Amino acid sequence: RRSLLGLKELGMDEIASILDRAAYWEASSNKLEPALQGKFIANMFFENSTRTRFSFEVAEKRLGAEVLNFAAAVSSVQKGESIYDTVRTLESMGIDAGVIRLKPNGVLADLATKIKVPLINAGDGNNEHPTQALLDLYTMRKQFGELRGLTVSIIGDILHSRVARSNLYALQKFGANVQFCAPASMAAPELGAPLVTMEEALKADVVMLLRVQLERHEAGMMGTAEAYREQYGLTTERASRIAPHAIIMHPAPINRNVEIDDELVEHPQSRIFTQMQNGVPIRMAVIERALN
Ligand code: CP
Repeated sequence: RRSLLGLKELGMDEIASILDRAAYWEASSNKLEPALQGKFIANMFFENSTRTRFSFEVAEKRLGAEVLNFAAAVSSVQKGESIYDTVRTLESMGIDAGVIRLKPNGVLADLATKIKVPLINAGDGNNEHPTQALLDLYTMRKQFGELRGLTVSIIGDILHSRVARSNLYALQKFGANVQFCAPASMAAPELGAPLVTMEEALKADVVMLLRVQLERHEAGMMGTAEAYREQYGLTTERASRIAPHAIIMHPAPINRNVEIDDELVEHPQSRIFTQMQNGVPIRMAVIERALN
């Protein structure tokens, strides 16, 4: 039984085995498999989600698990109950694993030392979002065959992005070249990836845009949406200059016409909805790993 708290501490072989297992589940013609029959999994989202929450639920149900969905907004958290007491409550009821999304940094690592059932990180402050990066790597590997030697530009709100961090940690293990492109107010130089211009970023094999996370910003951090799009948005004009073999990615949700123009979201080179599709087999592999 293994928790998944982040990719920084996970070896390349272990990441590769999750990707391989996801490929197995993607190829499986059976929509329902009894692999986790009789297991109870709680999805505990203390911060909003659409993709991660529902793809975990689809993955759990495909594996035959019993699913409990916890949403902080309609729970005793509203009466002041702590995250620890909430998770401990569900654990005491007999769950076999917990999927958890949290807003504050540092809480998940502490929880994992106190909770006995495996915990799967579904987004942890601006620290890590391992299943998002796993599905991103899976999408890139399917597209290009291997990750070694790929140049991946991650553009936008790096400072607040757990997706950028998990992708950086994992892609570097596989020998990919990760570069960031961001305004100074949203950069994170401490992560050590080279900071490149937008012109340089567009030459990559993978052009990954990030959502501007307005809910985590202090006033005025972004400037206007128009000015951001002008400098860091993937506009149709900029997209016309990316390589024919390159792909466009975005973890979503998307601020259309801010970090990416509306008509590019479903462009032939975009893999944005493919990423979402790949989230299900990746999460099947991660849940199976946690419980078997
Ligand atoms: N990409 C992602 O984590 O989306 P949600 O916030 O909708 O889960």
